[in-house]
Amino acid sequence: MKVSFVQMQIEILDIKKNVENAIKLMRKSNADLIVLPELFNTGYNFKSNKEVLEVSEEIPDGYTTSKLKEFSKEKNVTIVFGLAEKTEKGLYNSLAIVSKGNYIGKYRKIHLFYGEKDFFAPGDLGFKLFEVDGVKLGVMICFDWFFPESTRTLSLMGADIICHPANLVMPYCPEAMKTICLQNRVFVITSNRVGDERGLRFIGQSQITGPDGKIIYRASEENEEIFEIDIDTLKARDKNLNLKNNIFRDRKPEFYEILKR
Ligand code: ACM
Repeated sequence: MKVSFVQMQIEILDIKKNVENAIKLMRKSNADLIVLPELFNTGYNFKSNKEVLEVSEEIPDGYTTSKLKEFSKEKNVTIVFGLAEKTEKGLYNSLAIVSKGNYIGKYRKIHLFYGEKDFFAPGDLGFKLFEVDGVKLGVMICFDWFFPESTRTLSLMGADIICHPANLVMPYCPEAMKTICLQNRVFVITSNRVGDERGLRFIGQSQITGPDGKIIYRASEENEEIFEIDIDTLKARDKNLNLKNNIFRDRKPEFYEILKR
């Protein structure tokens, strides 16, 4: 499967401009799967609830999901992208998946970071897999990565690739992802943004990491980039570390009871 991320500049509160820019960048790609950043259409550093309310959209009927659904048909591609979701229950920091003209599903960020707690409700849909072209996609959003339970849960569910839209501001994720991928023998595609927004600087360094813990590609800290590569997703299904150790079969859940607390 040819996979890709878009690392991009984002203009706070300018949905049309951000969607247009993402589409312009994605036109350069021939990938089967493209991952865009967290809140790619709205920006991140909101000042008020009113601001978030004004730019949040319904999934799948809102502007952004409709536009990308249409583009996914034209390009015959699957796109995973982050956006602010408006519902009767409240606002969520969500992502949606569209594929070849179809809406596939959504996820709501479970572990909210810092000021996000002022505007969004924590995700209530749990972790899910979405199967596209025979490949099992797990999804999480930015700070979810910091909780090993997120990537472990998705990997135990059978994810081949974890798609990870992000707005990273702390420096840890790119290096940490090597260990996470190794421990779960899974691919992760982190799509981050670049630039500054109201005094917050994003670290770029979008990354594709392989099940052997090696970085397949890490983007720059500052530039817009689209990168694509063909990966053998079946590698993520081999959980054997050697002839005697299978990293999932060797687990001892009876000694991990505390994780349920
Ligand atoms: C983050 O979760 N956007 C840091």
